[in-house]
Amino acid sequence: SVKAKIGPSILNADLANLAAESQKLLDNGADYLHLDVMDGNFVPNLTFGHPMVKSLRNKIKTAFFETHMMVQNPAQWISPMADAGVNLYTFHIEPVDDVCMVSRLVQEAGMKVGLAIKPGTKVEDLEKYISIADVVLVMTVEPGFGGQSFMADMMPKVKWLRQNYPNLDIEVDGGVGPKTIACCAKAGANMIVSGTAVVGATDQRQVIREMRDVVQS
Ligand code: DX5
Ligand code: ZN
Repeated sequence: SVKAKIGPSILNADLANLAAESQKLLDNGADYLHLDVMDGNFVPNLTFGHPMVKSLRNKIKTAFFETHMMVQNPAQWISPMADAGVNLYTFHIEPVDDVCMVSRLVQEAGMKVGLAIKPGTKVEDLEKYISIADVVLVMTVEPGFGGQSFMADMMPKVKWLRQNYPNLDIEVDGGVGPKTIACCAKAGANMIVSGTAVVGATDQRQVIREMRDVVQS
């Protein structure tokens, strides 16, 4: 069956010390890094783009990087993000006309494809693309900001996906931490993004291990 992986979101870390913050998370057991890219258009917030990701890659050579593309035109950033050393390019299907074509471009650029849906998007809208996706991301908050409350009413989407696709990598993102991980695990999520709950913890290693244990059990 699918492996449990914990991918901290560095959104609420000290972005002026991104390399050190990221390395600390990896040293404390993170399986991958979830990098939140926002364009101020698809979501009402701005973070960073491919130049920042490339600089991070220069300092952190081997870790698995996911970029969560909360942008209006994900096709635009495929090539620079591939060049920056991104491994998994996760984009939202909502603003995209031809999801298959964008997915193909991502794969041709040498990255894995993640397909994300916002809370208001039905899992049925994602279904037709599942065969081409490496990962599906079910958002458990409205994308745009860290530190929001987990939406438990998204779990039926995860449950439905797991029932129908036993080997699919299913990721959850938003408000996930020690208090909400059991709910995610029970529904069948195996890729766990966690921002404030990990970054702000006094013992990051313990929080990461605890969440992995719940998902694996
Ligand atoms: C929200 C981002 C998430 C978020 C995670 O738009 O996609 O990755 O920052 O942070 P927490 O775990 O604090 O919700
Ligand atoms: Zn995210």
